[in-house]
Amino acid sequence: MSVTANSPLAGQRILLCVGGGIAAYKALELVRRLRDAGADVQVAMTAGAQQFVTPLSFQALSGYPARTTLWDSAAEQAMGHLELARWADRVIVAPATADLLARLAHGLADDLVTTLCLATEAPLAVAPAMNHRMWKHPATVANVELLRSRGVQVIGPDDGPLAEGESGPGRLAEPEAIVAALAGATAPAAGAGPGLLQGLKVVVTAGPTYEDLDPVRYLGNRSSGKMGFAVATSAARAGAEVVLVAGPVQLDTPPGVQRVNVRSAAQMRDAVNAALPADVYIGAAAVADYTPRAFSPNKIKKTGTGETLALDLVRTPDILAEVASREDAGLKLVVGFAAETNNVADYARQKLEAKRLDLIVANRVGVPGTGFESDDNAMTAYWPGGERDFPPAPKLRLADGLVELVAERLRADAR
Ligand code: CTP
Repeated sequence: MSVTANSPLAGQRILLCVGGGIAAYKALELVRRLRDAGADVQVAMTAGAQQFVTPLSFQALSGYPARTTLWDSAAEQAMGHLELARWADRVIVAPATADLLARLAHGLADDLVTTLCLATEAPLAVAPAMNHRMWKHPATVANVELLRSRGVQVIGPDDGPLAEGESGPGRLAEPEAIVAALAGATAPAAGAGPGLLQGLKVVVTAGPTYEDLDPVRYLGNRSSGKMGFAVATSAARAGAEVVLVAGPVQLDTPPGVQRVNVRSAAQMRDAVNAALPADVYIGAAAVADYTPRAFSPNKIKKTGTGETLALDLVRTPDILAEVASREDAGLKLVVGFAAETNNVADYARQKLEAKRLDLIVANRVGVPGTGFESDDNAMTAYWPGGERDFPPAPKLRLADGLVELVAERLRADAR
């Protein structure tokens, strides 16, 4: 057994809730991998799960009797279900069937698993597994969105062959990937200590914006939103009330963060204005600089346009500069981001001054292994009279460092 003593899951008490799907057999492997990562694992099963795997198998792997019902007086006497809900540092539902997701989304508590999920205060993660048509059904889509909006971490599903001989999104994420996702969300903040931003409201923007040309086309950019989501995660961990205004990205809402989804630069500006006043504004979104002058309600056709097509674009509002110049927003610190390919320091400092910012974070784009879709980044922060270099590291670590710097600059009374 390869015990990963330095895994963020080491010493964590994890309650694994197993739903009734064919993928329940993979939950056995998940128990083993969680224990390899150093976690203490207890298992609760739905009635459906017990049709696929036996409680005894989970008992053998976890070292605890698997819990199967609310109505087992012997088990309740050993550890009541509310006690079990309190025991857990993390709860993971795997596989989460469409039915289980629906019941969790709507707060039902009609069996052991849903009762535990409702009674616990621990962060909840779900790893869905179902037929691809069920996964894509608007009811499931809405249920998953509802869970995400409450900060539930959604892991997977994977795309590929399904049990019924069909193929599509619906396969349970591999146990190894589930453990990695849980570890990522559990990783302790390196620099951003708890309480560093306690009592403060922070508005963060993240991701790209899409500027629609016609009903089927848009202008967009390659921002993944990962950096902004990492900053929101870090700020929430540091005790801030966080509003995350997110462009179109497929990322889970960080725990404890209020997320507002937008599409265009104009919508992002409205959502930011609605979220203000705040103490800190962090503009990590890659807002489109230009948008089509007019949206074509009909699809633009090739016929009649000839060999070339000129798009008539107009500047979008500079949300960051607008926010920074507002006197009525209560802001103590305004932070911008700059993606530069060359003359990084010069361009970043010019933006710091031109947009009247307190802090700007510049990253050099085009460096292999960093930027855009990557999980790693390298950046330098500039403020009037100072700068700090953040060497290449996972975005969550960099975000912790940035939150620490934000707290420092706030103490220095930047505004
Ligand atoms: N920004 C914004 N609204 C815009 C454009 C950018 O709020 N319409 C913000 C971004 O969130 C980011 C910073 O401004 O914090 C980026 O500055 P910007 O000067 O737009 O950078 P680039 O687009 O890279 O500018 P340039 O093309 O001039 O380098």
